[in-house]
Amino acid sequence: MKPQIVALLGSPLPEGNTAKLLKKAIEGAEEAGCGITLIDVPSLEFSSCREMYYCREQKSCIMEDDMGRMYPLLKSMDSLIIATPVMTMGVPGHLKSFMDRCQVFYCAKYERKDSLIPKEKRKLRKTLLLSISGMNLPNNFDGITITTQAFCDIIDCQLSDELLIRDMDNKVDLDRYPDLMQEAFDKGFNLGKRLTNSG
Ligand SMILES: Cc1cc2nc3c(=O)[nH]c(=O)nc-3n(C[C@H](O)[C@H](O)[C@H](O)COP(=O)(O)O)c2cc1C
Repeated sequence: MKPQIVALLGSPLPEGNTAKLLKKAIEGAEEAGCGITLIDVPSLEFSSCREMYYCREQKSCIMEDDMGRMYPLLKSMDSLIIATPVMTMGVPGHLKSFMDRCQVFYCAKYERKDSLIPKEKRKLRKTLLLSISGMNLPNNFDGITITTQAFCDIIDCQLSDELLIRDMDNKVDLDRYPDLMQEAFDKGFNLGKRLTNSG
């Protein structure tokens, strides 16, 4: 079986710039020989974490919604791509709730000292972060980066590479920037090639 990469789209726009960037990275990862599962996070139906802490003792969440079918994917994947716009200087709400609902992984790893990710997978799993901001401020990506870093630690999928594109309000359309699209392709390819080379 091909190595499997999960791709999370945090933007609500399926044809937007973030989606275009993710599509390029996916093409790269496929070219490298990986299988991709694309998750359109804004279209998932789930609630934010209610802190019921069923996951302190159990390997799952007590809330029954679309997150139930996300956990097995996040456990079995070999690597991850996250593509997200900056919203209010951080991760968009629904994607942030997706990350918060991964407290299931936090409790297993840090409280019970028994990660849900098999040991042999933990070493290999890497995350590529793609992000776009409208403005051009020095701290545009601080929020996204710090949250993604924490999420990647929790799910044992080390943040290893990133492509952060600022000033999108002036750039307008990424199709006008073939170099950036190529960079997304190359980063997706490199993420995938690491997996196909190690298999
Ligand atoms: C609700 C909302 C909040 C935003 N907040 C920020 C922000 O804090 N900083 C910034 O640089 N851009 C911000 N933006 C602009 C987006 O990051 C930018 O338009 C991005 O290109 C959107 O990508 P997409 O069209 O692929 O979803 C915001 C956009 C929206 C809709």
